Amino acid sequence: MRENLKDFIEPGSEEEILLESLDLTRLPRHIAVIMDGNGRWAKLRNLPREEGHRAGAKSVQEVVEICARLGIEYLTLYAFSKENWKRPKAEISTLWKLLESYLKEEHNVLIKNQLCLKVIGQKDDLPSTIRRELHRVENLTKDFKRMTIVLALNYGGRAEIVEAVKKFCKDNSTDLDSLDEKKFANYLFTSDIPDPDLLIRTSGEMRISNFLLWQIAYSEIWITQEYWPDFRKKHLLQALVDFQKRERRFGDIHPR
Ligand code: FPP
Repeated sequence: MRENLKDFIEPGSEEEILLESLDLTRLPRHIAVIMDGNGRWAKLRNLPREEGHRAGAKSVQEVVEICARLGIEYLTLYAFSKENWKRPKAEISTLWKLLESYLKEEHNVLIKNQLCLKVIGQKDDLPSTIRRELHRVENLTKDFKRMTIVLALNYGGRAEIVEAVKKFCKDNSTDLDSLDEKKFANYLFTSDIPDPDLLIRTSGEMRISNFLLWQIAYSEIWITQEYWPDFRKKHLLQALVDFQKRERRFGDIHPR
């Protein structure tokens, strides 16, 4: 077992068996996650939805840790969509509070482990305290190279594409014919991030929910029935084992 995974994986556990079957030289560079099912997890336990989000924050910590230890380069988490503003005010406010305490409490962990935090989404419309805190942590961690945690906040895939079109047209109004896929990708929030190799969705829903519409063109999709608060390192390892069984052809007839 890799040295940095030793203390994290119990000998003889299901996680160890999964880990042993992984080829650690063929892991995805970028994993994106649609964290779903917090509300249903809470409902099952007769708890308020907010408790589901609180429990979901613990899963975030565990997934960040296993990904960093495995050497994943980018982990993108869909934490708040543009559509989530439709939720009750109290729930939205809990989500911001959780994020604020995550940033306040975890920024030392990010620094200690050389983890960079980056936000994608329409940041200008976030509450000002959150904006300030995000700005502070993004700045503190911007040079770290071990793994980048990309938080999608007030994010919508269609809105991202529309914004990119507007920016491109402003910059190239006299030369629209020069637009190609590579150039266009430079105008997305993810211009400096490779496309996800693996997209994970929890809670069994078979939807993309306006997440990274452009970037997931060739991502492998893995869906689990587990609600996000129950998602643990075991499930992440299951997703990776499954990912390594796939043949990625990118439209070609031969695997690449
Ligand atoms: C989806 O479950 C989850 C969200 C909209 C928010 C995700 C937020 C967290 C995991 C908490 C904190 C995040 C960080 C980064 C610290 P849902 O509410 O849609 O569940 P449901 O479909 O069962 O109602």
